[in-house]
Amino acid sequence: MSGAMSGESRYHEVYAAWKADPRAFWGEAAKAIDWFTPPETVLDEKAGVYGRWFEGATCNVCHNALDRHVETRGDQPAMIYDSAMTGETATWTYREMRDEVAALAGVLRGMGVEAGDRVVVYMPMIPQAVFAMLACARLGAVHSVVFGGFAAKELATRIEDARPKAILSASCGLEPGRVVAYKPLLDQAIELSIHKPDACLIYQRPQADAALVEGRDHDWQGAIDAARREGRLADCVPVAATDPLYVLYTSGTTGKPKGVVRDCGGYMVALAWSMEALYGMKPGEVYWCASDVGWVVGHSYIVYGPLIAGCTTILYEGKPVGTPDPGAFWRVISQHKATTLFTAPTALRAIKKEDPHAEHLKRYDLASFRALFLAGERADPATVEWAEDILKVPVIDHWWQTETGWAIAGNPVGLGVLPVKHGSPTVPMPGYDVRVVDEGGRDVAPNTMGSIVIRLPLPPGCLPTLWHADDRFRESYLEAFPGNYSTSDAGFVDEDGYLFIMGRTDDIINVAGHRLSTGGMEEVLASHPAVAECAVIGVKDQLKGEVPCGFVVLKAGVERSPLEIEKELVALVREKIGPVAAFKLAITVGRLPKTRSGKILRGTMKKIADGDAWSMPATIDDPVILDEIAQELSRRGIG
Ligand code: COA
Ligand code: AMP
Repeated sequence: MSGAMSGESRYHEVYAAWKADPRAFWGEAAKAIDWFTPPETVLDEKAGVYGRWFEGATCNVCHNALDRHVETRGDQPAMIYDSAMTGETATWTYREMRDEVAALAGVLRGMGVEAGDRVVVYMPMIPQAVFAMLACARLGAVHSVVFGGFAAKELATRIEDARPKAILSASCGLEPGRVVAYKPLLDQAIELSIHKPDACLIYQRPQADAALVEGRDHDWQGAIDAARREGRLADCVPVAATDPLYVLYTSGTTGKPKGVVRDCGGYMVALAWSMEALYGMKPGEVYWCASDVGWVVGHSYIVYGPLIAGCTTILYEGKPVGTPDPGAFWRVISQHKATTLFTAPTALRAIKKEDPHAEHLKRYDLASFRALFLAGERADPATVEWAEDILKVPVIDHWWQTETGWAIAGNPVGLGVLPVKHGSPTVPMPGYDVRVVDEGGRDVAPNTMGSIVIRLPLPPGCLPTLWHADDRFRESYLEAFPGNYSTSDAGFVDEDGYLFIMGRTDDIINVAGHRLSTGGMEEVLASHPAVAECAVIGVKDQLKGEVPCGFVVLKAGVERSPLEIEKELVALVREKIGPVAAFKLAITVGRLPKTRSGKILRGTMKKIADGDAWSMPATIDDPVILDEIAQELSRRGIG
């Protein structure tokens, strides 16, 4: 264990206070928010699928993120944009950002967007992406941000499900060594989708000029200039606390992503509480979350959390390495005086690989830096130890999911750091009654592996349901362990109440902190005319944690070279899902190992590929197949 003594932390007292009276706890936390109609009911257990927070209250998230701060901190930077891709930096004060967002909201209203309408945002990490989210919030419209690394087909699936009135995009994103033209992907997605938006607003970046479709597409800057000239600025629209702020699609077990719904009131309350108690942030301080606005982490801690808390947020366009070197993160912290960095372990592994002795760190003054937070995948002890050693600040692993919107477990810096145990994201946050259970839903003893569940109701900020899919929500999360939300993560709690998250119980894998469905990849592989059947598993990777690996059996009579087909399969996943899937490994095998009842033995294949000890499952149909697979993997240097 390392870190401060637990006696110095207020965590246990605060958690106990929540447990004793959850309504009083969240009612008190709600005072951090400006309401139009303050909440009278903190939790209505009868409303919604499992209860709703702050039913009856009205509010506006953009008001809380921007407008209310203009009075008290109007000239303080709200956002610093730092692009390691272009070398550009720019700062917006709270006042400037409010004005920018009010103009964009005016443009959206001119395009017919009203409260409750959906707006898809498909943008790179540029300030306009943040303005877009806040402008939707200002109008009470529901944004759905789609990560730029997804292909047209994935975007189309999300457009069909969200049915947006408008889509906001940019001419391009910038990846090391290439300009990713977004507009052709957007055009293709709209073509593929049955639902068509009324209008698109396109931000033209200097690196690429997008062709606009007449009658549908509008030039972003031109529209903003006109709105300003004509005084078409939009005010904040009061909405119900229980109204949706956004829908964020995340990988499910099939190719059809789940539309995670986030409400307005509960989300703000949870974020405000977490900024202070978990991250230890005070208004006016600089907070940096090096994720992407396309992911939940970006929604909560690039955009809404820091702004609601009156902090300065950093929007970083770049990578941890190669833009231009492994000192990039230290440069940003030092240049903008960030107190806190939140990133994925994979980013640190990338830095460690290129600069193991942290030579680049010596070039920067990190006097402002207080804590490093990690999430998105398991923080492996070796990486945490390395980071502690070079940074000399607490390195805090915390565990959460797109569904929860904020940490389920963590080590609350604002309440006094608890001793750190490497490999554990520490303890449950108030609001989360976390249990480890066996298949029958019974609590297991300490240090025993089981399924991790959260006793209902989920706390403020967590998803109330899936977009227009209450039944799918119930089936996916609530039915396996009645009375509980099933996290689909497995792990254990130790004798001190520390949680250890060891992996998913479904077919979701985590590639460089990005959540991907192996089921979705299997659907793509199966669509290839030469493929008879397939299985995709996640195999261990030193940098990305896991990478997908597809095993395919070709149809009888296919005479083409398997190598050629494997290349086509790699290209097909990139085309259909996107480069973010990092699918680079397709392996042709004679047969797939199955149980006698026909279930593919993915778990055993994974063990072989990871080089872990494995034994022949008793239920296997034909033991020879696994040996064949082991031989093929070893021939390719895997396992
Ligand atoms: N638009 C278009 N393409 C994108 C993209 C975007 N927004 N984001 C990533 N891609 C592409 C990359 O260019 C890469 O393409 P390639 O196969 O042609 O090289 C592919 O998707 C995989 O990207 P990435 O996962 O970023 O891997 P990488 O090899 O480029 O970089 C790391 C490795 C570790 C540096 C990088 O994964 C990283 O910084 N991870 C941090 C993850 C993170 O913040 N996760 C958020 C959860 S907290
Ligand atoms: P996402 O919805 O993309 O945030 O992915 C959520 C999943 O990532 C979780 O269900 C976990 O499997 C994994 N995950 C996130 N954070 C952690 C962590 N700190 N430790 C272990 N696994 C994590």
